[in-house]
Amino acid sequence: MARAPLPEGPDSRVPSRVPSGAPDQAGTDLYRVAAPIYDLCTALWSGGAIWRSRRCQIEAMQPGESVLYAGGGTGRAAVEAARRGMRVTLADRSPAMLAKAQARALRAGVEIEWLQTDLWDYQPEVRFDHVCANHFFNVYGEADMQRMRARLMGWLVPGGSLHIADFRPLVGGRLARMAQRVHHAIPLAGCSAFTRNALHPIYDHDRWGEQQPGRLQVQDHRMWWIGPGWYRTWRLETESRTPAQPT
Ligand SMILES: C[S@@+](CC[C@H](N)C(=O)[O-])C[C@H]1O[C@@H](n2cnc3c(N)ncnc32)[C@H](O)[C@@H]1O
Repeated sequence: MARAPLPEGPDSRVPSRVPSGAPDQAGTDLYRVAAPIYDLCTALWSGGAIWRSRRCQIEAMQPGESVLYAGGGTGRAAVEAARRGMRVTLADRSPAMLAKAQARALRAGVEIEWLQTDLWDYQPEVRFDHVCANHFFNVYGEADMQRMRARLMGWLVPGGSLHIADFRPLVGGRLARMAQRVHHAIPLAGCSAFTRNALHPIYDHDRWGEQQPGRLQVQDHRMWWIGPGWYRTWRLETESRTPAQPT
């Protein structure tokens, strides 16, 4: 797909309040403590499911397509996408997370466009074939999450896809749901202590996705391959614009 210039759209830039997870007044990098241990923690806590939830997105992409990793963090998925021939942009406001991602890209010998930016302020000049928001929306409280999700949707070409990897909405009986809540609450609270992410229930992107024009696909991922499937990937493929008929 070709990259299309981005016209001015409705302004979803300004969050309703200072979003949780924002750098503090002094501009401190809130991820400086998390960055060195982030990959290890996510791998152990999810039993590899977080990686698989990001990797399956790449399988839906074609070499040459453009992809934005929004809040792309330490860049594991971004580097893999670049390795497989995608034109990758990684945007993140944390210098510590970006430094990890850049070191990884250097080791892999791949090129990525790096944007150290706050996505509330960023306005891309061109649209993307894919935008990936992986464990990114849960940085925010519900209202800001919805605004950011709408914002990222606006950066897609017609027919482009928004990919979300995150915790799966509650499933199963009472005990299973309680265990799932605890599994979500512990890392959220732990991260919040360092990064000030919002504390909130698991977000359910199913209902929102079903209401959008386009095609929604979901895939669940088991912890340690045989454990509970508490991680989910959503792919919302937007509708292609019908080409104008020659008159
Ligand atoms: C929980 S981490 C997720 C990292 C990665 N996407 C993954 O798959 O694990 C959230 C990331 O989003 C970044 N972030 C949060 N809010 C942001 C914003 N407004 N603009 C840019 N990056 C942001 C943080 O710096 C952090 O690297």
